[in-house]
Amino acid sequence: MTTAAPPSQDILKPHLAIDGGHSLQGELKVSGAKNSALVLMTASLLTAERLTLHNVPPLTDIDGMENILVSLGVKVHRRSETVELEASHLTSAEPPYDLVNGLRASFFAIGSILARMGYAKVPLPGGCRIGARPVVEHIRGLKALGASVSVEHGVVTAAVPGEGKRLKGASIVLDCPSVGATETILMAATLAEGTSVIENAAQEPEVQDLANLLNAMGARITGAGGPTITIHGVEALHGCEYSVILDRIEAGTFLLAAAITRSRLRVAPVVPEHLNAVLQKLRDCGCELEIDGDGITITPGTIKGVDITTQPFPGFPTDLQAPFMALLATASGTSVITEKIYENRMQHVAELQRMGAAIRIQGSTAIVEGVPSLSAAPVNGTDLRAAAAMVLAGLVARGSSQVSGLNHLDRGYAGIEAKLRACGAVLERHLP
Ligand code: EPZ
Repeated sequence: MTTAAPPSQDILKPHLAIDGGHSLQGELKVSGAKNSALVLMTASLLTAERLTLHNVPPLTDIDGMENILVSLGVKVHRRSETVELEASHLTSAEPPYDLVNGLRASFFAIGSILARMGYAKVPLPGGCRIGARPVVEHIRGLKALGASVSVEHGVVTAAVPGEGKRLKGASIVLDCPSVGATETILMAATLAEGTSVIENAAQEPEVQDLANLLNAMGARITGAGGPTITIHGVEALHGCEYSVILDRIEAGTFLLAAAITRSRLRVAPVVPEHLNAVLQKLRDCGCELEIDGDGITITPGTIKGVDITTQPFPGFPTDLQAPFMALLATASGTSVITEKIYENRMQHVAELQRMGAAIRIQGSTAIVEGVPSLSAAPVNGTDLRAAAAMVLAGLVARGSSQVSGLNHLDRGYAGIEAKLRACGAVLERHLP
């Protein structure tokens, strides 16, 4: 077994040492959705009663969100994958910069803080490696609902004019179907006076999950999951118990782990309609999929190249662009992958090239010439999904790879090495 020469620095970082070439068998278990759980937690701010969330994935991002909510006075109690949240007495409307800075979803709380307290002061989430990620639409929406909003020194201050006034229902047409902006406006509008309509709304399952939770708390929302969402404001929301939807991106990543190792695997539980665009591309590139009660059994055939363009839901999800590229780097034939959601989400290409992938970038398009095999190397996960792509590549690369960037990986994949190891992968975490 050839092992890549340990490089100077990478080996000193926490990394997963992955011995490539092992096929997988059995079943990969899918956890609750990170990108839903985070936002559902911020909905607790909308009521003084207890909100109990089940199926919350044990991720570092969830820890971060817990710290932010506690800093506002929310009582949080976590027991395994259940989180109890009680915002009976909020003590602040200003989550601290050092907590918000690393967690974009925390900015979406500005809608619920403002609706509940009439005031909110939240640091701008800032950009990250994959793009500028502005919050223009979130601010436009809050202003449309009657809030005065200013941005100074990197902090967004929003206030409902007048004493104890409520936000006013309004119609908003988003310039782009932003997931976070839709969620921010949705939460703020639940307690507004009158009716709000969000057009060109994001249709992601996580938006639908939030609307379902808010309705369970007494909100009156229709149309979520489609392009137009209507919210009839109510005086107050109450607590409830609710279970977070399954993580479609983790499920897609696991299906790709089966495909790249050419293994027949079951991935469960899954909501197939949350992944239709991905399932279509898996079939197109040569995988057989059997959808049973609550899971999907994937049987890879000869993997051939396919073209992918990322789009808002229900199009192909940007969060699976990097993991799918890892698969297509080992396909027979050429694939053209175009990233339309973020302006800079191709940083995993350089890392895949270190493993022998033949990829050329032209603007926001990657032309991937499949190669017969990848070779193990020390590689770095530059963001959450790029890190997942490197793990997939490590599973199949000849030799032993070292995948660093675990701080990203642990944000979105609960216990990924234990799940993969249980199916026969040979990998272990090194914490030098
Ligand atoms: C959510 O981010 C997800 N994060 C992202 O997942 C996901 O990639 C993204 O939706 C798209 O599906 C969470 O839910 C916590 P957007 P969000 O606002 O809401 C541009 C992961 O790996 N835009 O829909 O921040 C923006 O710059 C993460 O799990 C504007 O131009 O995404 C981006 O290019 C990464 N103006 C595009 O829209 C705005 O005002 C999509 O952003 C807002 C956004």
